[in-house]
Amino acid sequence: MNKTSHKKFTASSPGKFILMGEHAVVYGKPAVALAINKRLTCTISESTKLTINGLCVAPDDNSYVSRILSANNLTTASISIKSELLPGSGLGSSGALCTSLLTSIKRMLGKSHNRKDIASEAFEAEYRAQGRASPVDTSCCTFGNGIAVNCPKNLGQYLWTASKNGDTWDIFNIPIPKMTFVVGYTGIRSLTASIVEKVKKYKEQSPVAENLIDEIGNVTIDGMQALSKNDTEHLGRLMTKNHKLLASLGVSCRELDKLVNASLEYSYGAKLTGSGGGGSMIALTDEPGKVCQTISLHGGFPFIVSTSVEGTNVETGDLISN
Ligand code: PMV
Repeated sequence: MNKTSHKKFTASSPGKFILMGEHAVVYGKPAVALAINKRLTCTISESTKLTINGLCVAPDDNSYVSRILSANNLTTASISIKSELLPGSGLGSSGALCTSLLTSIKRMLGKSHNRKDIASEAFEAEYRAQGRASPVDTSCCTFGNGIAVNCPKNLGQYLWTASKNGDTWDIFNIPIPKMTFVVGYTGIRSLTASIVEKVKKYKEQSPVAENLIDEIGNVTIDGMQALSKNDTEHLGRLMTKNHKLLASLGVSCRELDKLVNASLEYSYGAKLTGSGGGGSMIALTDEPGKVCQTISLHGGFPFIVSTSVEGTNVETGDLISN
């Protein structure tokens, strides 16, 4: 029997949480995101059909996968995705998917690429799929560790700049002091595109939203300074303030508020992370066990995360047969 061999290429990217500045960052305000020790792994090989985890997929849908394939002049491929990140949990599953898929595609096509290329192409895919986005998620998943957007220049090492519709995002790598974070997942899937759209409408209709977005930007700059001084207590207070501003912007929900309020007893600060409306919250704490316990008692799903993890990597290029 005539067997063809196809090389398979695997890459993985970390998830992330946004420490401060979500939503406002869509409008060019500052933000900080940290990569976490939960990853999404993508393996690709040539195929005559488009399959994801063995299932045939229509190549013309509007998914991140189809957009990334067509941007690389591909219509078919065999793709396998393994993820420790729940979609819609606010922990960067789409950013990790876009960046690991792109990295594995570039290897398969023998195209030279660096992290900036991956971050910028992944941002393009997210922007188009969501209708509006910032490059914070895709940059954090690509570069790993800590990413600051539009931060004071002395606080980080410059990585790259993204621009869209008059907004500019200068992206920096920043040092991350040792801190303990607990994530609390609400169990409710958050729909980033629709929440981002809701904020856009609010901003168009009311100067109150515009002021809240400015205020989130100011609090985030203060948070960046606190982070650089390793001032955990002040950083925690600013995180909680950031949560209140996000709640006023209309992106929290009862479940998130409940988990944030419950965690505060044992934390320096707590807030929703990512788009909100469900998804997850984070707490900065020295008592992770107690925070996990209270999150569980209040109906959430807690886990302790490690930060300072590496970004997208390229792991294998093994030969497989079909
Ligand atoms: O919930 P996530 O992981 O998709 O994060 C969304 C973050 C936003 O600031 C709301 C949107 C963006 O593109 O920055």
